Amino acid sequence: MAHERRNETTQLALVMVGLPARGKSFMAHRLRRYLGWLGYRTRVFNVGAYRRAQAGAQHREDFFAPDNAVGRRTREALADDALGDLLDWMRAGGEVGIYDATNTTRARRDRVRQRLDAAGIRVVFIESVCRDPAIIEANIRATKLKGPDYAGVDPDEALADFRARLAHYEAMVEPMTEDETSAIRVVDAGRRIEINEVRGYLPGKILFFLTNSHAERRPIFLSRHGESEANVAGRIGLDPELSSAGLEYADALATFMRYRIGETTPTVFTSTLRRTIRTAAPLPWPATAWRALDELDAGICDGKTYAEIAAEFPDDYAARQADKFHYRYPGGESYRDVIGRVEPMILEIERQRRPVLVIAHQAIIRVLYAYFRELPAEECPYLPVPLHCVIELRQGTAGLEEERHMLGPDAE
Ligand code: F6P
Repeated sequence: MAHERRNETTQLALVMVGLPARGKSFMAHRLRRYLGWLGYRTRVFNVGAYRRAQAGAQHREDFFAPDNAVGRRTREALADDALGDLLDWMRAGGEVGIYDATNTTRARRDRVRQRLDAAGIRVVFIESVCRDPAIIEANIRATKLKGPDYAGVDPDEALADFRARLAHYEAMVEPMTEDETSAIRVVDAGRRIEINEVRGYLPGKILFFLTNSHAERRPIFLSRHGESEANVAGRIGLDPELSSAGLEYADALATFMRYRIGETTPTVFTSTLRRTIRTAAPLPWPATAWRALDELDAGICDGKTYAEIAAEFPDDYAARQADKFHYRYPGGESYRDVIGRVEPMILEIERQRRPVLVIAHQAIIRVLYAYFRELPAEECPYLPVPLHCVIELRQGTAGLEEERHMLGPDAE
Protein backbone atom coordinates (compact mmCIF):
# COMPACT_ATOMS: atom_id res chain seq x y z
CA MET A 1 0.00 0.00 0.00
CA ALA A 2 1.49 3.30 -1.04
CA HIS A 3 -0.94 5.41 0.96
CA GLU A 4 -0.88 5.86 4.71
CA ARG A 5 -3.46 3.87 6.62
CA ARG A 6 -6.11 6.22 7.89
CA ASN A 7 -8.79 5.85 10.49
CA GLU A 8 -11.71 6.13 8.15
CA THR A 9 -12.67 2.98 6.29
CA THR A 10 -11.35 3.29 2.79
CA GLN A 11 -14.02 1.10 1.20
CA LEU A 12 -15.84 3.20 -1.28
CA ALA A 13 -18.05 2.57 -4.31
CA LEU A 14 -18.01 5.11 -7.09
CA VAL A 15 -21.21 4.79 -9.08
CA MET A 16 -21.06 6.39 -12.52
CA VAL A 17 -24.23 7.99 -13.86
CA GLY A 18 -24.91 9.35 -17.33
CA LEU A 19 -26.13 8.73 -20.84
CA PRO A 20 -23.93 6.78 -23.23
CA ALA A 21 -21.03 8.74 -24.80
CA ARG A 22 -20.71 11.14 -21.86
CA GLY A 23 -17.16 10.11 -21.02
CA LYS A 24 -18.07 7.93 -18.01
CA SER A 25 -15.72 5.08 -18.86
CA PHE A 26 -12.95 7.55 -19.54
CA MET A 27 -13.43 9.11 -16.09
CA ALA A 28 -13.69 5.68 -14.47
CA HIS A 29 -10.44 4.63 -16.08
CA ARG A 30 -8.62 7.82 -15.09
CA LEU A 31 -9.81 7.45 -11.50
CA ARG A 32 -8.66 3.85 -11.45
CA ARG A 33 -5.22 4.85 -12.64
CA TYR A 34 -4.90 7.64 -10.07
CA LEU A 35 -6.27 5.76 -7.08
CA GLY A 36 -4.37 2.60 -8.01
CA TRP A 37 -1.14 4.57 -8.18
CA LEU A 38 -1.87 6.07 -4.76
CA GLY A 39 -2.03 2.50 -3.47
CA TYR A 40 -5.76 1.88 -3.19
CA ARG A 41 -6.94 -1.45 -4.55
CA THR A 42 -9.22 -0.08 -7.26
CA ARG A 43 -11.20 -1.84 -9.94
CA VAL A 44 -13.70 -0.86 -12.62
CA PHE A 45 -16.80 -2.99 -13.24
CA ASN A 46 -18.08 -1.98 -16.67
CA VAL A 47 -21.56 -3.25 -17.46
CA GLY A 48 -21.04 -2.79 -21.21
CA ALA A 49 -18.15 -5.24 -21.02
CA TYR A 50 -20.42 -7.74 -19.19
CA ARG A 51 -23.01 -7.36 -21.95
CA ARG A 52 -20.44 -8.00 -24.66
CA ALA A 53 -18.90 -10.94 -22.80
CA GLN A 54 -22.17 -12.64 -21.84
CA ALA A 55 -24.65 -11.60 -24.50
CA GLY A 56 -22.42 -10.76 -27.49
CA ALA A 57 -21.25 -7.44 -28.89
CA GLN A 58 -23.48 -7.04 -31.88
CA HIS A 59 -26.60 -5.57 -30.29
CA ARG A 60 -28.43 -3.05 -32.37
CA GLU A 61 -30.50 -0.16 -31.08
CA ASP A 62 -33.74 -2.16 -30.68
CA PHE A 63 -32.07 -4.14 -27.87
CA PHE A 64 -31.99 -0.87 -25.88
CA ALA A 65 -35.56 0.23 -26.70
CA PRO A 66 -37.76 0.84 -23.62
CA ASP A 67 -40.49 -1.44 -24.99
CA ASN A 68 -38.10 -4.36 -25.61
CA ALA A 69 -38.87 -6.44 -22.52
CA VAL A 70 -36.25 -9.12 -23.26
CA GLY A 71 -33.57 -6.51 -23.86
CA ARG A 72 -34.49 -4.69 -20.66
CA ARG A 73 -34.44 -7.84 -18.53
CA THR A 74 -31.13 -8.93 -20.02
CA ARG A 75 -29.58 -5.53 -19.36
CA GLU A 76 -30.88 -5.44 -15.80
CA ALA A 77 -29.55 -8.92 -15.10
CA LEU A 78 -26.13 -7.95 -16.46
CA ALA A 79 -26.10 -4.77 -14.37
CA ASP A 80 -26.96 -6.85 -11.28
CA ASP A 81 -24.24 -9.38 -12.08
CA ALA A 82 -21.61 -6.66 -12.40
CA LEU A 83 -22.68 -5.11 -9.11
CA GLY A 84 -22.62 -8.54 -7.46
CA ASP A 85 -19.06 -9.03 -8.66
CA LEU A 86 -18.12 -5.60 -7.33
CA LEU A 87 -19.56 -6.54 -3.93
CA ASP A 88 -17.73 -9.89 -3.89
CA TRP A 89 -14.50 -8.17 -4.81
CA MET A 90 -14.95 -5.59 -2.04
CA ARG A 91 -15.71 -8.32 0.49
CA ALA A 92 -12.41 -9.91 -0.54
CA GLY A 93 -10.53 -6.70 0.31
CA GLY A 94 -11.09 -4.35 -2.63
CA GLU A 95 -11.01 -0.73 -1.57
CA VAL A 96 -12.50 1.37 -4.35
CA GLY A 97 -14.99 -0.32 -6.67
CA ILE A 98 -16.04 1.74 -9.67
CA TYR A 99 -19.41 0.75 -11.07
CA ASP A 100 -19.42 1.91 -14.66
CA ALA A 101 -22.95 1.78 -16.08
CA THR A 102 -25.49 4.34 -17.25
CA ASN A 103 -27.58 4.22 -14.05
CA THR A 104 -29.75 6.90 -15.60
CA THR A 105 -33.03 5.95 -13.93
CA ARG A 106 -33.89 6.63 -10.32
CA ALA A 107 -35.11 3.06 -9.83
CA ARG A 108 -31.75 1.66 -10.96
CA ARG A 109 -29.79 4.02 -8.72
CA ASP A 110 -31.97 3.22 -5.72
CA ARG A 111 -31.41 -0.49 -6.25
CA VAL A 112 -27.66 0.01 -6.52
CA ARG A 113 -27.60 2.13 -3.38
CA GLN A 114 -29.67 -0.39 -1.41
CA ARG A 115 -27.27 -3.22 -2.21
CA LEU A 116 -24.21 -1.14 -1.37
CA ASP A 117 -25.79 0.21 1.84
CA ALA A 118 -26.67 -3.33 2.90
CA ALA A 119 -23.01 -4.28 2.50
CA GLY A 120 -21.94 -1.22 4.53
CA ILE A 121 -20.10 0.37 1.61
CA ARG A 122 -20.06 4.13 1.19
CA VAL A 123 -21.33 5.45 -2.14
CA VAL A 124 -20.34 8.47 -4.16
CA PHE A 125 -22.22 8.99 -7.42
CA ILE A 126 -20.30 10.58 -10.25
CA GLU A 127 -22.70 11.94 -12.82
CA SER A 128 -21.54 13.13 -16.21
CA VAL A 129 -23.92 15.56 -17.87
CA CYS A 130 -23.12 16.84 -21.30
CA ARG A 131 -25.10 19.56 -23.00
CA ASP A 132 -22.53 20.53 -25.58
CA PRO A 133 -23.30 18.62 -28.80
CA ALA A 134 -19.70 19.04 -29.97
CA ILE A 135 -18.37 17.10 -26.95
CA ILE A 136 -20.95 14.33 -27.41
CA GLU A 137 -20.18 14.07 -31.12
CA ALA A 138 -16.44 13.88 -30.41
CA ASN A 139 -17.01 11.17 -27.77
CA ILE A 140 -19.13 9.11 -30.15
CA ARG A 141 -16.56 9.32 -32.93
CA ALA A 142 -13.53 8.75 -30.71
CA THR A 143 -14.86 5.81 -28.71
CA LYS A 144 -18.18 4.26 -29.66
CA LEU A 145 -17.78 3.95 -33.41
CA LYS A 146 -14.32 2.46 -33.01
CA GLY A 147 -15.40 0.18 -30.17
CA PRO A 148 -16.31 -3.53 -30.23
CA ASP A 149 -20.08 -2.92 -30.61
CA TYR A 150 -19.55 -1.67 -34.16
CA ALA A 151 -16.56 -3.68 -35.32
CA GLY A 152 -16.87 -4.21 -39.07
CA VAL A 153 -19.99 -2.02 -39.36
CA ASP A 154 -20.16 0.77 -41.93
CA PRO A 155 -19.45 4.08 -40.05
CA ASP A 156 -22.63 5.85 -41.24
CA GLU A 157 -24.76 2.87 -40.30
CA ALA A 158 -23.01 2.64 -36.91
CA LEU A 159 -23.56 6.34 -36.26
CA ALA A 160 -27.26 6.11 -37.08
CA ASP A 161 -27.67 3.05 -34.87
CA PHE A 162 -25.82 4.61 -31.97
CA ARG A 163 -27.92 7.79 -32.23
CA ALA A 164 -31.06 5.63 -32.05
CA ARG A 165 -29.65 3.83 -28.99
CA LEU A 166 -28.97 7.21 -27.37
CA ALA A 167 -32.54 8.33 -28.08
CA HIS A 168 -33.86 5.29 -26.18
CA TYR A 169 -31.82 6.24 -23.14
CA GLU A 170 -32.75 9.92 -23.47
CA ALA A 171 -36.43 8.96 -23.40
CA MET A 172 -35.97 7.38 -19.95
CA VAL A 173 -33.30 9.52 -18.32
CA GLU A 174 -33.93 10.91 -14.84
CA PRO A 175 -31.13 13.28 -13.81
CA MET A 176 -29.99 12.99 -10.22
CA THR A 177 -31.90 15.02 -7.68
CA GLU A 178 -30.76 16.84 -4.55
CA ASP A 179 -31.75 14.05 -2.19
CA GLU A 180 -29.36 11.63 -3.94
CA THR A 181 -26.12 12.05 -2.04
CA SER A 182 -23.15 11.96 -2.04
CA ALA A 183 -22.79 13.10 -5.61
CA ILE A 184 -20.42 14.89 -7.93
CA ARG A 185 -21.86 16.19 -11.19
CA VAL A 186 -19.38 16.87 -13.97
CA VAL A 187 -20.96 19.17 -16.55
CA ASP A 188 -19.67 19.43 -20.13
CA ALA A 189 -16.49 17.44 -19.56
CA GLY A 190 -15.45 19.47 -16.51
CA ARG A 191 -16.44 23.01 -17.48
CA ARG A 192 -18.57 22.99 -14.34
CA ILE A 193 -18.51 20.72 -11.29
CA GLU A 194 -21.42 20.52 -8.84
CA ILE A 195 -21.01 18.89 -5.45
CA ASN A 196 -23.73 17.47 -3.25
CA GLU A 197 -22.59 16.46 0.24
CA VAL A 198 -19.20 15.04 -0.66
CA ARG A 199 -17.16 14.61 2.50
CA GLY A 200 -14.13 12.68 3.67
CA TYR A 201 -10.51 12.25 2.72
CA LEU A 202 -10.82 9.99 -0.29
CA PRO A 203 -13.99 11.55 -1.78
CA GLY A 204 -12.22 14.90 -1.43
CA LYS A 205 -9.22 13.62 -3.36
CA ILE A 206 -11.48 12.20 -6.06
CA LEU A 207 -13.26 15.52 -6.37
CA PHE A 208 -9.99 17.42 -6.68
CA PHE A 209 -8.77 14.96 -9.28
CA LEU A 210 -11.95 15.34 -11.33
CA THR A 211 -11.67 19.12 -11.27
CA ASN A 212 -8.15 18.87 -12.72
CA SER A 213 -8.41 16.12 -15.30
CA HIS A 214 -9.75 16.53 -18.83
CA ALA A 215 -9.96 14.47 -21.99
CA GLU A 216 -7.90 16.59 -24.35
CA ARG A 217 -5.03 14.69 -25.87
CA ARG A 218 -1.50 16.00 -25.59
CA PRO A 219 1.82 14.22 -25.49
CA ILE A 220 3.81 13.90 -22.30
CA PHE A 221 7.60 13.77 -22.45
CA LEU A 222 9.58 12.43 -19.51
CA SER A 223 13.34 12.78 -19.26
CA ARG A 224 16.05 12.52 -16.67
CA HIS A 225 18.56 15.37 -16.58
CA GLY A 226 21.67 15.08 -18.72
CA GLU A 227 24.55 13.13 -17.23
CA SER A 228 25.89 14.90 -14.12
CA GLU A 229 29.34 14.97 -12.57
CA ALA A 230 27.95 12.79 -9.77
CA ASN A 231 26.73 10.24 -12.34
CA VAL A 232 30.25 10.11 -13.75
CA ALA A 233 31.68 9.56 -10.25
CA GLY A 234 28.97 6.98 -9.43
CA ARG A 235 27.71 9.09 -6.50
CA ILE A 236 24.05 9.40 -5.63
CA GLY A 237 22.16 12.58 -4.80
CA LEU A 238 24.06 15.88 -4.29
CA ASP A 239 23.43 18.93 -6.47
CA PRO A 240 26.06 18.58 -9.19
CA GLU A 241 26.62 20.35 -12.50
CA LEU A 242 26.25 18.49 -15.81
CA SER A 243 29.19 16.65 -17.36
CA SER A 244 30.16 17.54 -20.91
CA ALA A 245 28.03 14.64 -22.19
CA GLY A 246 25.15 15.98 -20.08
CA LEU A 247 25.53 19.43 -21.65
CA GLU A 248 25.42 17.86 -25.09
CA TYR A 249 22.23 16.06 -24.12
CA ALA A 250 20.66 19.36 -23.02
CA ASP A 251 21.30 20.80 -26.51
CA ALA A 252 20.07 17.64 -28.21
CA LEU A 253 16.90 17.68 -26.11
CA ALA A 254 16.11 21.26 -27.14
CA THR A 255 16.59 20.40 -30.83
CA PHE A 256 14.49 17.26 -30.48
CA MET A 257 11.63 18.99 -28.67
CA ARG A 258 11.46 21.85 -31.19
CA TYR A 259 11.27 19.37 -34.04
CA ARG A 260 8.87 17.03 -32.25
CA ILE A 261 6.14 19.44 -31.21
CA GLY A 262 6.45 22.08 -33.93
CA GLU A 263 4.96 25.46 -33.15
CA THR A 264 3.18 24.59 -29.90
CA THR A 265 4.59 25.85 -26.61
CA PRO A 266 4.83 23.05 -24.10
CA THR A 267 4.66 23.29 -20.33
CA VAL A 268 8.10 22.46 -18.95
CA PHE A 269 8.71 21.31 -15.39
CA THR A 270 12.06 20.68 -13.72
CA SER A 271 13.15 19.97 -10.17
CA THR A 272 14.89 22.66 -8.12
CA LEU A 273 18.26 20.93 -8.56
CA ARG A 274 20.94 22.33 -10.85
CA ARG A 275 21.19 19.33 -13.13
CA THR A 276 17.57 19.51 -14.29
CA ILE A 277 17.50 23.30 -14.56
CA ARG A 278 20.67 23.22 -16.63
CA THR A 279 19.20 20.49 -18.85
CA ALA A 280 16.19 22.73 -19.56
CA ALA A 281 18.30 25.85 -20.22
CA PRO A 282 18.67 25.48 -24.04
CA LEU A 283 14.92 25.04 -24.51
CA PRO A 284 13.26 28.05 -26.10
CA TRP A 285 10.44 27.98 -23.51
CA PRO A 286 10.31 28.90 -19.84
CA ALA A 287 10.46 26.10 -17.26
CA THR A 288 8.97 25.94 -13.78
CA ALA A 289 11.09 24.34 -11.04
CA TRP A 290 9.25 22.22 -8.44
CA ARG A 291 10.69 20.84 -5.20
CA ALA A 292 8.20 18.00 -5.54
CA LEU A 293 10.32 16.80 -8.48
CA ASP A 294 13.65 16.74 -6.58
CA GLU A 295 15.42 13.37 -6.51
CA LEU A 296 14.65 10.78 -3.83
CA ASP A 297 16.44 12.03 -0.73
CA ALA A 298 19.16 9.54 0.19
CA GLY A 299 19.56 11.02 3.70
CA ILE A 300 22.82 9.96 5.35
CA CYS A 301 23.84 8.22 2.12
CA ASP A 302 23.65 11.36 -0.01
CA GLY A 303 26.85 11.79 -1.99
CA LYS A 304 28.06 8.21 -1.53
CA THR A 305 28.66 5.50 -4.08
CA TYR A 306 26.65 2.27 -3.75
CA ALA A 307 29.89 0.48 -2.79
CA GLU A 308 30.51 2.98 0.03
CA ILE A 309 26.95 2.50 1.28
CA ALA A 310 27.42 -1.28 1.29
CA ALA A 311 30.68 -0.94 3.26
CA GLU A 312 29.61 1.77 5.73
CA PHE A 313 25.93 0.85 6.25
CA PRO A 314 25.69 -2.87 5.44
CA ASP A 315 22.35 -3.29 7.23
CA ASP A 316 20.80 -0.44 5.34
CA TYR A 317 22.23 -1.69 2.09
CA ALA A 318 20.76 -5.14 2.70
CA ALA A 319 17.41 -3.71 3.80
CA ARG A 320 17.17 -1.69 0.59
CA GLN A 321 18.06 -4.71 -1.52
CA ALA A 322 15.36 -6.70 0.28
CA ASP A 323 12.55 -4.14 -0.11
CA LYS A 324 13.55 -1.21 -2.24
CA PHE A 325 10.02 0.17 -2.44
CA HIS A 326 9.48 0.58 1.30
CA TYR A 327 13.08 1.12 2.41
CA ARG A 328 13.63 4.67 3.70
CA TYR A 329 17.19 6.03 3.86
CA PRO A 330 17.86 7.25 7.42
CA GLY A 331 17.06 10.97 7.30
CA GLY A 332 15.78 10.54 3.75
CA GLU A 333 12.99 8.96 1.75
CA SER A 334 11.63 5.73 0.31
CA TYR A 335 9.95 5.27 -3.06
CA ARG A 336 6.69 5.06 -1.17
CA ASP A 337 7.41 8.49 0.35
CA VAL A 338 8.24 9.83 -3.09
CA ILE A 339 4.83 8.82 -4.45
CA GLY A 340 3.16 10.89 -1.72
CA ARG A 341 5.42 13.86 -2.46
CA VAL A 342 5.04 13.68 -6.24
CA GLU A 343 1.24 13.36 -6.11
CA PRO A 344 0.50 17.11 -6.54
CA MET A 345 2.59 16.99 -9.71
CA ILE A 346 0.26 14.35 -11.15
CA LEU A 347 -2.61 16.79 -10.80
CA GLU A 348 -0.47 19.59 -12.20
CA ILE A 349 0.40 17.48 -15.26
CA GLU A 350 -3.20 16.26 -15.69
CA ARG A 351 -4.41 19.87 -15.64
CA GLN A 352 -2.25 20.94 -18.61
CA ARG A 353 -3.85 21.13 -22.03
CA ARG A 354 -0.55 21.69 -23.84
CA PRO A 355 2.24 19.16 -24.35
CA VAL A 356 4.17 18.59 -21.12
CA LEU A 357 7.90 18.00 -20.70
CA VAL A 358 9.12 16.87 -17.28
CA ILE A 359 12.87 16.92 -16.68
CA ALA A 360 13.60 15.24 -13.37
CA HIS A 361 15.55 12.38 -11.82
CA GLN A 362 15.72 8.61 -11.98
CA ALA A 363 13.41 7.81 -9.05
CA ILE A 364 10.98 10.60 -9.94
CA ILE A 365 10.68 9.64 -13.60
CA ARG A 366 10.12 6.02 -12.53
CA VAL A 367 7.26 7.06 -10.28
CA LEU A 368 5.65 9.28 -12.95
CA TYR A 369 6.11 6.61 -15.59
CA ALA A 370 4.44 4.00 -13.36
CA TYR A 371 1.44 6.32 -13.05
CA PHE A 372 0.99 6.81 -16.78
CA ARG A 373 1.66 3.17 -17.64
CA GLU A 374 -0.49 1.93 -14.75
CA LEU A 375 2.24 -0.25 -13.33
CA PRO A 376 2.11 -1.54 -9.76
CA ALA A 377 3.77 0.96 -7.42
CA GLU A 378 6.07 -1.75 -6.04
CA GLU A 379 7.68 -2.06 -9.51
CA CYS A 380 8.77 1.61 -9.57
CA PRO A 381 12.25 1.10 -8.09
CA TYR A 382 13.23 -1.31 -10.86
CA LEU A 383 11.86 0.43 -13.96
CA PRO A 384 14.57 1.10 -16.54
CA VAL A 385 14.88 4.83 -17.14
CA PRO A 386 18.26 5.43 -18.78
CA LEU A 387 20.05 8.73 -19.04
CA HIS A 388 19.78 10.61 -22.34
CA CYS A 389 16.46 9.04 -23.23
CA VAL A 390 13.19 10.93 -23.78
CA ILE A 391 10.09 8.87 -23.08
CA GLU A 392 7.20 10.11 -25.19
CA LEU A 393 3.69 9.09 -24.15
CA ARG A 394 0.67 9.73 -26.36
CA GLN A 395 -2.95 8.76 -25.96
CA GLY A 396 -3.85 6.55 -28.92
CA THR A 397 -7.27 5.07 -29.68
CA ALA A 398 -6.23 1.72 -28.22
CA GLY A 399 -4.57 3.20 -25.14
CA LEU A 400 -1.34 4.91 -24.23
CA GLU A 401 1.42 4.67 -26.82
CA GLU A 402 5.07 4.98 -25.93
CA GLU A 403 8.19 5.87 -27.87
CA ARG A 404 11.67 6.12 -26.42
CA HIS A 405 14.18 8.42 -28.09
CA MET A 406 17.87 8.09 -27.26
CA LEU A 407 19.54 11.47 -27.88
CA GLY A 408 22.94 13.08 -27.73
CA PRO A 409 26.23 11.31 -27.27
CA ASP A 410 24.70 7.89 -26.46
CA ALA A 411 22.37 7.82 -29.46
CA GLU A 412 22.97 5.20 -32.10
O1 F6P B 1 22.26 7.55 -9.47
C1 F6P B 1 21.41 8.56 -9.87
C2 F6P B 1 20.22 8.68 -8.96
O2 F6P B 1 19.37 9.68 -9.48
C3 F6P B 1 20.54 9.00 -7.48
O3 F6P B 1 20.68 10.36 -7.20
C4 F6P B 1 19.39 8.36 -6.76
O4 F6P B 1 19.63 8.12 -5.40
C5 F6P B 1 19.22 7.11 -7.56
O5 F6P B 1 19.48 7.44 -8.90
C6 F6P B 1 17.85 6.48 -7.48
O6 F6P B 1 17.93 5.21 -8.09
P1 F6P B 1 17.91 3.88 -7.18
O7 F6P B 1 16.62 3.99 -6.41
O8 F6P B 1 17.88 2.76 -8.19
O9 F6P B 1 19.08 3.86 -6.27
